[in-house]
Amino acid sequence: MNLDEAKALERSYLLDLYVPIRMPMVMARGEGARLWDTEGKEYLDFISGGRAVTGVGHCHPKVAEAVREQAARLIHLSNDFYTEPQLHLAQRLSNLFGGRCFFCNSGAEAVEAAIKLARKHGYKSVGPEKHEIVTAENSFHGRTMGALAATGQPKYHQGFKPLPEGFVHVLFNDVAALRKAVSEKTCGVMLEPILGESGVYPATQEYLEAARELCNSHGAVLIYDEVQTGVGRTGKWFAYQHYADVDPDVLTLAKGLGGGVPIGAMLAREPEAASFTPGDHASTFGGGALPAAAALAVLDVMEQEELLENAVRVGGRLAEGLRELQAKTPLIGEIRARGLMIAVDLTRSVAGEVKAECISRGLLIITVGDSMLRLLPPLVLSEEQADRGLAVLGDVLAELSRE
Ligand SMILES: Cc1ncc(COP(=O)(O)O)c(C=O)c1O
Repeated sequence: MNLDEAKALERSYLLDLYVPIRMPMVMARGEGARLWDTEGKEYLDFISGGRAVTGVGHCHPKVAEAVREQAARLIHLSNDFYTEPQLHLAQRLSNLFGGRCFFCNSGAEAVEAAIKLARKHGYKSVGPEKHEIVTAENSFHGRTMGALAATGQPKYHQGFKPLPEGFVHVLFNDVAALRKAVSEKTCGVMLEPILGESGVYPATQEYLEAARELCNSHGAVLIYDEVQTGVGRTGKWFAYQHYADVDPDVLTLAKGLGGGVPIGAMLAREPEAASFTPGDHASTFGGGALPAAAALAVLDVMEQEELLENAVRVGGRLAEGLRELQAKTPLIGEIRARGLMIAVDLTRSVAGEVKAECISRGLLIITVGDSMLRLLPPLVLSEEQADRGLAVLGDVLAELSRE
C-alpha cells in the first residue's frame, strides 16, 4: 500500500482524528530502533513507536517469542479465571514498586482506576464529601472522561463538558498553590513526576515533598501517573525514584510495559489498595494472558539487557550532543532531558519544518506546539544510533538557522 492509497482509505473508513499528526509513509516493519516503510525506506525511531511505547525496541525477539508462544497456548481468559502470566506479572511489578496490581489495557484506564480508588478510599475513610482530586495545570492523564477531567489542559476539555466533577487544577511546581488547593475534601493528588505530553518539565523535590506531606496530613492518596515516565524511560524503573522520600501510594503504568502490546496497570500500596473490594472495578480484557506474557518478557529484557543503564548512558550522550548543537545554532533554546525523555525548545516557530525535514531524512521525531521538539527514543538505542540521529537533527537545524 502506498501513501495515497492509505490516505484514501483513511478518508473513507476512519474517523478524522489523526490526519494532522500522521507521518507521511505507510510503515511495514520494525526492528529495534529501526522501521521500514512499504517503499523499503529505513527510519531511525526516536519516538518509540510514536508515543513512548516500544522501549525495548520494535519486535524484540524475546517479546515476539513470548507472544507467539502464549498465543499458541492461551490468548485470553477473563478475570473469572486464574492465569499464570497475570499472577507472575503482578508479583514482578510488586517487587519493583510494592503493593498490589489492577490490570487494564491503556494509560487512561489505569488513570481511571486510580481516580476510582482514591474516591473509594476517601468515601470509606470519611464519606462522600471527601472526593476532590487535585492535579496539575498542563498535565496529561488521558482522553476518557475521568482522565480528561483530571487533565489540566482546557483545550482538551473543549466540546466535551460536562466533565465529571471534583477535579481541581493547580499550577505545577507551585508549592503554595498546592497547599491552598488540598483540603479536607481532597481524596487524591495525582501528578506526573515529569510532565510528559506538555514538554518534559520535571517536578521539583520540594513540590513532591509538599504533595507527599499534604496527602499524609489530609488522609489523601498520592498518585503518580507514570504512564509515560515509567518502565525505564527516565533511566530508573519509575521517575519518582529520582527523588528522595516522596514515594506515592498509587502508581499508574502503561505505554512501555507491554513492549507494544496494549496493557496498563494501576499499582496500589496498603492501606489504599484494600479500599477496592469485589465489584468496585473490573476489566474484561485487563491482565489477559497474552499482554501479561508480553509484559513479563519486557521486564526480562529490561533486566537482561541492562536497559536502565543504557537509557542513562545513551540519554546522557544525546543530551550532551544536543548541548553541543545548542552552542552552534541559535535555534536551540532550553533542553530538558531525563534519560531518554527529552524536549528541545526552539527559538523560532519552526518545529513543524524541523520534524518534516528530519522525517524526510529518515529520523522520526515529534513536536509539541510549533516551537518544541520531543525525543523519546527506545531504551535499546545504541550510541551509534544516537549519534546518527543527532547528526541528522544538527544538519536540519543548521540549515534552518541559515534561512
Ligand atoms: C502521563 C500520561 N497519562 C495517561 C496517558 C494516556 O494513555 P493512553 O493513551 O494509553 O490512554 C498518557 C498518554 O500520553 C500519558 O502521557
